[in-house]
Amino acid sequence: TGPDAPTTPDAAAPAEVRARPAEVTREAARRRTFAVISHPDAGKSTLTEALALHARVISEAGAVHGKAGRRSTVSDWMEMERARGISITSAALQFEYDAHVVNLVDTPGHADFSEDTYRVLSAVDAAVMLVDAAKGLEPQTLKLFRVCKHRGLPVITVINKWDRPGLDALELMDQIQEQIGLRPTPLTWPVGIAGDFRGVLDRSTGDLVAYTRTAGGATRAPEEHLPAAAAAQREGTAWDDAVEEHELLSADGADHDQDAFLAGVTTPVIFASAILNFGVATLLNTLIELSPPPLPFTVVDPDAGSAPRGAGTPTDAAVAAADAATAPARTRPVEAPFSAFVFKVQAGMDTAHRDRLAFARVCSGVFHRGMVVTHAQTGRPFATKYAQAMFGRERAVLDLAYPGDIIGLVNANALTVGDTIYLDEPVTFPPIASFAPEHFAVVRAVDSGRYKQFRRGIEQLDSEGVVQVLRSDLRGVQAPVLAAVGPMQFEVATSRMQGEFNAAVRLEELSYTQARRTDAASAAELDRLRGVEVLQRSDGSLLALALDKWRVHSVHRDHPHLTLESLVAGE
Ligand code: G4P
Repeated sequence: TGPDAPTTPDAAAPAEVRARPAEVTREAARRRTFAVISHPDAGKSTLTEALALHARVISEAGAVHGKAGRRSTVSDWMEMERARGISITSAALQFEYDAHVVNLVDTPGHADFSEDTYRVLSAVDAAVMLVDAAKGLEPQTLKLFRVCKHRGLPVITVINKWDRPGLDALELMDQIQEQIGLRPTPLTWPVGIAGDFRGVLDRSTGDLVAYTRTAGGATRAPEEHLPAAAAAQREGTAWDDAVEEHELLSADGADHDQDAFLAGVTTPVIFASAILNFGVATLLNTLIELSPPPLPFTVVDPDAGSAPRGAGTPTDAAVAAADAATAPARTRPVEAPFSAFVFKVQAGMDTAHRDRLAFARVCSGVFHRGMVVTHAQTGRPFATKYAQAMFGRERAVLDLAYPGDIIGLVNANALTVGDTIYLDEPVTFPPIASFAPEHFAVVRAVDSGRYKQFRRGIEQLDSEGVVQVLRSDLRGVQAPVLAAVGPMQFEVATSRMQGEFNAAVRLEELSYTQARRTDAASAAELDRLRGVEVLQRSDGSLLALALDKWRVHSVHRDHPHLTLESLVAGE
């Protein structure tokens, strides 16, 4: 039996596991759960390795991500991922550091998988925004940052690759201020220009933190702390320049302010070189000292009209959002009995065990493997005997988890993205906002004799959120429409239909680029308009697809009584 073999289930959770509020308070307080957001190639995988290395989870950089020429790949699991060198799936990495428990929730870097990233961002308490020193802010960074802002997530910025020629440090600060409207408050300031990374000025102590290169950045980089006088003597004008700019920043009010950081007004900035392990310890310390521990999550208020959804009748994200806007938000204290919500569902992690894994973020209480929880959406019991902590492909059995932790639930066939599970005290968390698809394709089974496999596969991909599935009477059950945020989602769907469900499919791309929410009253009339088609999503909502934005505008103008609403909350 390998690491995937299910272990013997425990008996149900003992009663004392349920009622230890002081322990939950303590455990929650020492947890930090965050995600790294960045444009592809900014160095996210390298930074993940470096963080794990610093926490001594792995002894040598390369064990987590396994770039070409280094050790085996752990966090990438699909053939496609390996072929493309990108990370499509999410995995969570947990490690202890300085008496704290750090949960790093991995996000896919490719723009096409942004929807997955958005879901991950609903499960974390802070984000680290990784910026390539030479490229500055890039489109994907900006897009992801806007989601953080919408979620109210505090953001720590890391300027990476300072070992290579890049932009001027002050110019990078200007970009952050101007392009994302966050006030940068550097915690460290580089000594030496980009490409000549000697160390940083620690702005809280005024000391120089000097870094020493190690062979290939493969071990922890030694740090040396020198007081200002010694630093000036050693680094000369590079030190003087850093001091001058540091003073300029202070005069400009760019010093760290914890309240402003937590309120999303400022972002602490750290200069680093992930590949050389420079600045990585500073990042870990910053996460522990500044980023927030798990806080109470907002819940759907059962008295406010948006009742928890029953099976097959999902609550509309927009309704929940509107309710949240009018009523004071109710929250679930972290000490309340166990509760968690599913932010990611995945199948085919291992072709030998065709299981379905749901990733859930613990919001309150203690999770104890073996406890039987309630699935809020159906009211049915769900046994958690096979809960596992995930670390790339490696699975370790997870016995206990606290608020902020990510649990992987095996055999989670009933669980869908956004679902809530709880113990004792009922609760439902609001659904995770989904994002507006911009790519649409009709999907058909190549071999019509394999319709059963086809249907099962499409249902599976739909419930995992790999693609959205839209249907209409007109198109019929044999030819549903797949909707995606990016076209690579179609490639994943096609490859999995063939490989996992043995049902090869043919896609025929449609020329629609826009999707809007509509209602039954408007559907028939919209369907008669040229360049518009109404389909039903599996969550029951009606979507009107249109060729382009111009078509949406003209429908709004010529038929103002018809409902066409944006799918994206806050837009
Ligand atoms: P991603 O996950 O955000 O897509 O980025 P990844 O870590 O894969 O890094 C992208 C490239 O940038 C890699 O080079 C990596 O080595 C390099 N890189 C990451 N951090 C730093 C840094 O601090 N300094 C420098 N100079 N380079 C950095 P590659 O050529 O694509 O891969 P490899 O052959 O080097 O492994």
